[in-house]
Parts: sequence; structure tokens; C-alpha cells
Amino acid sequence: MLRDALTAVLAGKVPPVAATEAPGCALDFKPAAALVSNLTYHNRISRILQNNCLECHHTGGLAPFSLETYDDVKSHAGMMRKQVSRDVMPPWFAALPAPGEASHWANDRSLAPSDKADLLAWLASDRPLGDPAEAPLARTFPTDWEIGQPDLVVQLPRAVAIKAEGVMAYQTLTVETTLAEDKWVQAFEVRPTAREAVHHVIVKVHAAGTKVNEREAGSERDGFFAAYVPGNSHHTFPAGFAKKLPAGAVVSFQMHYTPNGKATTDRTMIGLVFAKEPPRHTIRVAGLSAPRLSIPPGAPNHLETTTITVPYDTTLLAFTPHMHVRGKAARYEATLPDGTTRVLLDVPRYDFNWQLTYQLAEPITLPRGSKLTYHAWYDNSPANPANPDPAKNVRWGPQTFDEMMLGYVEYYLPGQPAATPAKSVSVNIR
Ligand code: HEC
Repeated sequence: MLRDALTAVLAGKVPPVAATEAPGCALDFKPAAALVSNLTYHNRISRILQNNCLECHHTGGLAPFSLETYDDVKSHAGMMRKQVSRDVMPPWFAALPAPGEASHWANDRSLAPSDKADLLAWLASDRPLGDPAEAPLARTFPTDWEIGQPDLVVQLPRAVAIKAEGVMAYQTLTVETTLAEDKWVQAFEVRPTAREAVHHVIVKVHAAGTKVNEREAGSERDGFFAAYVPGNSHHTFPAGFAKKLPAGAVVSFQMHYTPNGKATTDRTMIGLVFAKEPPRHTIRVAGLSAPRLSIPPGAPNHLETTTITVPYDTTLLAFTPHMHVRGKAARYEATLPDGTTRVLLDVPRYDFNWQLTYQLAEPITLPRGSKLTYHAWYDNSPANPANPDPAKNVRWGPQTFDEMMLGYVEYYLPGQPAATPAKSVSVNIR
């Protein structure tokens, strides 16, 4: 490949492959001329890491290694430079706001430009430690529930055996709650017990006595009560908002396990914190989908689009684009009744490993009659390193080698107080 490229350049042509990506570890050569700066670990870098990385990179956290100490940081410095400069870490894939504009996202994880510049400059320098007197207080992490002590924990009725290798079909397990009255849920947290082998969990709530079949529990199209993916495990709704858990509700868990080399068992649970007072509004989830999607073999940039008309004034709170390994980019747009169009969320580079929820800092109300459009792009070409089979025409299906085209939207209906029995608000399409 290098020879082809050199031959082309020597002949004054554009090389057939202009750049390749080297997999594997970034080597950490000492910089030839260390940059001179007064940035030290203690006066600046440890704070940047505390605020942007330690949430996952702490002992016992989601990430595979800790970045809590200077030694931790030194031993990962090469990969840190690589992943931070490529914007792979911290994981955040929404388009950045225009310069000078504030972020639209309450849970924006992207590094502020000055933090990114300082972190990269320090990593490229001889990495001075600085004066320990300037160090911030160490950050501590809850070893138990992130949402605080739950009022109710609902756990899988039995431990599920996970094979060491291969593909496992989705498992559906249900639990009957014994609540005598309706409850309003202010916060939830989904906790797998075998986190390394849990790809995702979809939790749904059904009326008392429902015999939940696989299809209902698994139909991701009609939204869900709570969902878990690595990096998205808990959520606390703002004051005045809650989700309803009806008396005697049946809770279903759709479990997607991905064997990772070691046989184990899992007994996932969901912890729920109840609201102290009845909420003003119920939070709902709808899924915009294209169940008839069809991605031709080899297509590098295949687009699927779906649009719904919003039947009531609807206030949007959050978005969760969902695709599988051929997912490439996603965008939500709204067209208001007066014809103006506005981009709600743009994800120029979708990463299947991070099924992030993007929470609006300021909710957006769409007047009734607005159109909500969801676009999803797929790369079914051999250039997509995650593509298991570029020769396949890819259709909708549950496994990661099938595809999905789902744009979840979390919303409430400002004209409908929480106390009113929910009308059927079927904005799920087709
Ligand atoms: C939301 C959780 C989360 C946050 C926040 C986060 N990371 Fe990570 N990081 C992970 C996980 C999980 C992995 C392992 C999987 C992967 O590589 O994607 C990882 C992997 C890495 C790797 C190794 C990559 C490799 O391929 O070996 C580096 C380096 C890294 N993170 C640095 C950082 C830095 C620096 C920050 C902060 C600026 C940060 N991370 C913020 C979760 C996180």
C-alpha cells in the first residue's frame, strides 16, 4: 500500500489510499524538544481529568483502567494523546457547537477547547508533576448506587448463564411487582452483575397481570421505561417530571448478552427512587423507526429517513440514536408548521460502542403539526472496520450483524398534566 502511494505521488497522481490507520498502541516517544509551559499535573491536569475522565476511569469504574494518579496517567500517556486528539475520548459524538455558542446538551461530555489544548500540551511536554500543595481534593465515587439508595430494587428472577463464546439470542425475563399503589419514578439505575458481558438491557413496564411475550418485551419500537448500555446506566429526571410505575406492574427485562471469553452468570437489577410528590408531567419515550430498511451490499453511505407528524404540542427532552455496527451518522430535524427547519441533534460520527443519550440543556417544544424527521446513515462497505460482511444486503434484525434504524425521543406533553390518565399517544409510526 505504501509502495502504491509512493509510486502515485512520484508520478504526480493522488495515491489510491491516501491515509491508513495503524491499529494498536500509540508508542510514547519522549518529545524531542519538550514544550516549555507552566502547566503541571497538580495545578491543572489532575483537575481536567477529574472533571472529564475519572467518572469512568476510576478503580472499579466502567473504563478498563484508572487515571486517578500521576503514575496511572504516565503509563497511559501515549494512548491518551492519541484518543484525546482524535476526539475518541471522552466519548461524545454530537457535533460541537459553533465557536462562541454554548453547548445545547445538559450531559455534554466533550472536552472544552482550553482543557483539550492544555491536556495535549502537557502530555506532549516532559509532564511536570508540580507542587502537591496545589492539588485538588481527590474525587470520590459512589461504590453503591449512583442515584442514591433506591426505594425499590427489581431484579431478574434468576441468574442467567452466559456462555464463554458465540452469539446469544436475546433473553426476556419478567418480574411482577407487588406495589399496592401507583408510584412515580424520579430516578432509575440499571445494574448488571456481569457488566463485562452485558451489551444492553431494555426495561419495560406493563399493566398488572400482563402476560408479556418476547415480542412485546423486545419490541424496541414503542419506546421503553429504562435502558442500559455501557456509559448510560442511570438517570434522574428534573423536579416535576417522573415516569409512572402502575400498581402491580409487571417489569420485563430484555437482555442482550455478548459472550466475552469467560462463562459467567448475570442477575441484572433496576433500582428506582420514587418522587416525593406527584409530578407535573409524565415522561414518555417514542421511537422513530424504519423497519423495512434495506442496506445494499458495499454501500458506503446509505441513508434511511423516517418522518412523523407530531399530534400534540410536544416538548422534547432527549434523543438516543440507535443503530448497529454499520451505523455511521445520525440526525434529528424538526420542521415547524411555518415551514422552518431546525437541526435538533447532529451526530456526524456515530459509534456503535457508545449508545449515548443526548439530553437537551433547554427542552424544545414542537407545536402540534410539526414534522419530526430522523435520518440514519450506514456504511456497509469494506472500509468500515466494524463491518462483519460487506457482501450482505442488510435488513432489520436484533443481532449486531443485522441493523436497526431507531431514533428514540424522550418527551412530555405540556398540555397534558401527569394526573390525567394517559391518552393513547401513538406517535410510533407504521
Ligand atoms: C463515559 C466513560 C468514559 C469517559 C468519560 C472517558 N473514558 Fe476513556 N475509556 C472508557 C472505556 C469504557 C474505555 C475502553 C473501551 C474503549 O476503548 O472504547 C476507554 C478507553 C480509553 C483509552 C484507551 C483506548 C485504547 O484503545 O486502548 C484511553 C487512552 C482513554 N480512555 C482516555 C480517556 C481520557 C483521557 C478521558 C478524559 C479526557 C476519558 N478517557 C474519558 C470510558 C470513558
